[in-house]
Amino acid sequence: MAKLLYSATMSLDGFIAGAGGDMSWLSQYASEENDTADRLLTQVGAILCGAVTFFGDDPNRGTDAEGAFGGQYDGPVVLLTHRPPDNPIPGVEVSTDLHDAVHRAKNAAGENYVNILGADVARQCIEEQLLDEILVFTVPILLGDGTRLFDKPGGAEIQLEPLPDETEGWYRVVY
Ligand SMILES: NC(=O)c1ccc[n+]([C@@H]2O[C@H](COP(=O)([O-])OP(=O)(O)OC[C@H]3O[C@@H](n4cnc5c(N)ncnc54)[C@H](OP(=O)(O)O)[C@@H]3O)[C@@H](O)[C@H]2O)c1
Repeated sequence: MAKLLYSATMSLDGFIAGAGGDMSWLSQYASEENDTADRLLTQVGAILCGAVTFFGDDPNRGTDAEGAFGGQYDGPVVLLTHRPPDNPIPGVEVSTDLHDAVHRAKNAAGENYVNILGADVARQCIEEQLLDEILVFTVPILLGDGTRLFDKPGGAEIQLEPLPDETEGWYRVVY
């Protein structure tokens, strides 16, 4: 059964997007070698994407590198939104319910990972105890404002356990 993974590139001060959803800061790291990201790409069977991410800023828009994993991912995508688009989007399944979206994405992923894109969706998956793992790539920049990796004011702490023999920043969520 597919596992649910929340992966993101995070600024040193804990943001995955800058103010107003700005993602331009990510471009400067795009050409860096990242074996873990390359390996992850081969293990992702489906993407579960929040609507803010799906319709949000992509500094590579209009180029070959547009989209998830710098344009290298071309598998199934489940888009979670309360407002389904009027017209179908090729290769994208739309869901209006978190559990339904997770179910669809897991079915599509087979034995591989469902990779969550979006902090809001990931937070809900943690709250519902659906999230299995978190993988964070930290980059040396301070954004000061934006979308936090995990934002739940007043929320209870959640324990994370490093995955044995895995790269730094890859954790199992302990419920
Ligand atoms: N640094 C990185 O590696 C990285 C990776 C991915 C994304 N990002 C960025 O991080 C930001 C993530 O934004 P975010 O966390 O605010 O949003 P998000 O998780 O991408 O999307 C949230 C949206 O998804 C829809 N949604 C969420 N839960 C739902 C539910 N239970 N049922 C139906 N619809 C639901 C809602 O959209 P509707 O209003 O349409 O209903 C909601 O506003 C974006 O700016 C993105 O570009 C960064």
